[in-house]
Amino acid sequence: MDLKELSSGVKDDKISEETKSLISSLPSHTDSHGLKMCKYQGCWYYHNTVQGVVNFQRGFQPQDTDIILASNPKSGTTWLKALTVAILERSRNHSSSNHPLLSDNPHGIVPFLEFDLYIESSSPDLSKYSSVPRVFSTHMPLHAIHETLKDSPCKIVYVARNVKDTLISWWYFRCAVRKIELNRSILESMFKSFCEGTFFYGPYWEHLLSYWRGSLEDPKKILFMKYEEMKAEPRAQIKRLADFLGYPFTKEEEENGCVDEVLNLCSLRNLSGLEVNKTGKVNNMEHKDFYRKGEVGDWKNYLTPEMENQIDMIIQEKLQGSGLKF
Ligand code: A3P
Repeated sequence: MDLKELSSGVKDDKISEETKSLISSLPSHTDSHGLKMCKYQGCWYYHNTVQGVVNFQRGFQPQDTDIILASNPKSGTTWLKALTVAILERSRNHSSSNHPLLSDNPHGIVPFLEFDLYIESSSPDLSKYSSVPRVFSTHMPLHAIHETLKDSPCKIVYVARNVKDTLISWWYFRCAVRKIELNRSILESMFKSFCEGTFFYGPYWEHLLSYWRGSLEDPKKILFMKYEEMKAEPRAQIKRLADFLGYPFTKEEEENGCVDEVLNLCSLRNLSGLEVNKTGKVNNMEHKDFYRKGEVGDWKNYLTPEMENQIDMIIQEKLQGSGLKF
């Protein structure tokens, strides 16, 4: 994910005149760091991300076998990427030392469509991603990618996480990327925009609901996963993921411990301990900042009871009647 706008200010030199004109016609907002955002097709983006979204919508041509990994930032994207890579790669008979996850960060292996690939052009060179299936990722809500993908049998996996842990994870990440100390005033302003829905890729609940409803309408195309369920029952959830992707674990693999091998390879402890993840960088962001505690309920250490009540009430109201619960 390219969050350069969070570390070095919004760079709009890559934004075309056409997109500038589009942006000027959209609802706008300035975040707590003075960075400009706009609401495009119901979702709040920083300006240069809008260019990536527009380029993607204009130029992406899905292949039937493509896999798109979707998420709200800080919801378990890195883990989902690692698991998907490990599931797909297991047929390739890697030795213990040449697995791609040992030499690259999951974000280096699975690029973001609107950041890494389409930020500059609607016809990027994708020849590097020629192995089948191609795996891409996105933080765009379903309504932003639906039109482009609707006629393709490609598959979409979404990972959702409870809003309070996502917010705390964002707070840590934002401070880490900006190399500033954690402080409550940043958390409070992030909390406010989360609740107002004006946060990057927000409103949060619209993002969740877009994929939730999509997965109910077309469960063969969209798999909806929850970070909390992946933590609570990793074996069942990874098998669910492998089945959905069309790469199920065979009985023999299960008996040979292959499911556990994949889980161990992709564990936070293992990935964060690898040299490549301790030292490297992706798009201005240090690999190590993508790994922190990975706990469910860490928000309890930071949010006041008032904040908890406020955000719970909003989420309860917004998700009411949808069948989606955390
Ligand atoms: P915390 O900040 O709560 O620890 P994303 O990958 O979408 O950026 O989300 C980052 C969150 O996922 C962080 O949560 C991070 O610690 C956690 N995470 C990263 N890799 C993980 C893994 N392999 N297993 C479980 N959680 C992981």
